[in-house]
Amino acid sequence: MIELAIAAAQEAGAFLKERVGKVLAIEEKFGQARNLVSEIDKGSEAGIIRRIKARYPDHDILAEESGLQHTGSDYRWIIDPLDGTTNFLHAVPIFCVTIGIEFKGEIIAGVTYDPNRDELFTAELGSGAFLGTQQLHVSTAETMIQSLMVTGFPYNLGENKDRPLDHFGNFAMASQGIRRLGSAALDLAYVASGRFDGYWEVSLNPWDMAAGVLIVREAGGRTTDFMGNALSVYQKQVLATNGRIHSLCLDILNKSQ
Ligand code: IPD
Ligand code: CA
Ligand code: CA
Repeated sequence: MIELAIAAAQEAGAFLKERVGKVLAIEEKFGQARNLVSEIDKGSEAGIIRRIKARYPDHDILAEESGLQHTGSDYRWIIDPLDGTTNFLHAVPIFCVTIGIEFKGEIIAGVTYDPNRDELFTAELGSGAFLGTQQLHVSTAETMIQSLMVTGFPYNLGENKDRPLDHFGNFAMASQGIRRLGSAALDLAYVASGRFDGYWEVSLNPWDMAAGVLIVREAGGRTTDFMGNALSVYQKQVLATNGRIHSLCLDILNKSQ
């Protein structure tokens, strides 16, 4: 199955890369002016689903643009056909395709493919995480001042009750620096690679993180909600770190303001 996920992600990545700067139709999602979707998101997703269905017609599929196709299978493919849509629409080359595979509610494989750098991040449960053939390990930073953090903002920034801008300010004061790439799946892959030491975000969807959380864990990192509880991809909050700075990050996320 992971080979199929890799082939589908690479094919979709090439489809995206060819179309940067050539998008014709853009729509707002859920009436939110910041939450955009293009014909390209949909085209990428259709190609991935076609491949999966051809091989595993009875598996469940949860994909960002077309939703859940529930078949009752123990297997579920969780797909974001273009993570980083806003970057893509501005021709900023930071976006990817990301696919997670769940078995009986547990993520067993994940693939995130960055077509701009031709970087393929993969993980299988219990078998480690890889960038191409190179095994990944999270960083060794022990303190916040040694830590380069990354985050993303929800599309409903103004109404979000989870204080994303307070967290941003608190991490900015405590850490070495913060980046905002605009692709949650790459943020997670970069924590797994040790490029970043930690990542948090208040409001993700399962397709943003299904592959990425497994890639972080298999690289030796830790993933929880903001209370330190075990993470489910069906909840919104994500904290993913190298493990060493995790409790320091939880303290920051639970500051009163
Ligand atoms: C978004 C990106 C972004 C994150 C948002 C996501 P999309 O996904 O991952 O970095 O901050 O929360 O929704 O819409 O580009 O697939
Ligand atoms: Ca996404
Ligand atoms: Ca997307």
